[in-house]
Amino acid sequence: MTEEKMEILLAAEDIEKRICELARTISDDYKGQKILLIGVLKGAVIFLSDLIRHLKIPVEIDFMAVSSYGADTTSSGVVRIQKDLEQSITGKDVLIVEDIVDTGLTLNYLYDNLFSRGPQTLRVVTLLDKPNRRKVEFNPDYCGFAIPDEFVVGYGLDFNEDYRHLPDICILK
Ligand code: IMP
Ligand code: MG
Repeated sequence: MTEEKMEILLAAEDIEKRICELARTISDDYKGQKILLIGVLKGAVIFLSDLIRHLKIPVEIDFMAVSSYGADTTSSGVVRIQKDLEQSITGKDVLIVEDIVDTGLTLNYLYDNLFSRGPQTLRVVTLLDKPNRRKVEFNPDYCGFAIPDEFVVGYGLDFNEDYRHLPDICILK
């Protein structure tokens, strides 16, 4: 593995603290309900794993994998489902769990796609948000951290599949 330059943006302790806060807010908002968390593979896996262990409400989990058509993933806006859910979400309280919202194209597509399946409620939690990079309007219901327009890795986020295992979120130079 080549050594790229890394700079810590969010340390593991800060991430953990913020996830506890998010879990408290989500548990309060959905009090008395059971929710279905849909993790977006692969980046959101670590966030989802940590988040659910702090939730005080019953949950189910499922996963989807999506990818953009073509090489230019940031501008095509066409998203393909590579792995779909194992169950119907009709009538369920659904929370999409994403690692990062960048241009907004992925979640914009995913939200509309899942909405058309008739969930009772549909919301989005993202660990990270780069609001300055939007190409389409998209506002997550819950957000861990708004971050500057830098490419970040670690805590599930990758660069060419590397660095997902890093406990901190780092800027890749
Ligand atoms: P969007 O469709 O442009 O919002 O892109 C969302 C996806 O792009 C995320 O789910 C990530 O997989 C990827 N992505 C965007 N920014 C970063 C980054 O800084 N590091 C790693 N992956 C990123
Ligand atoms: Mg992702």
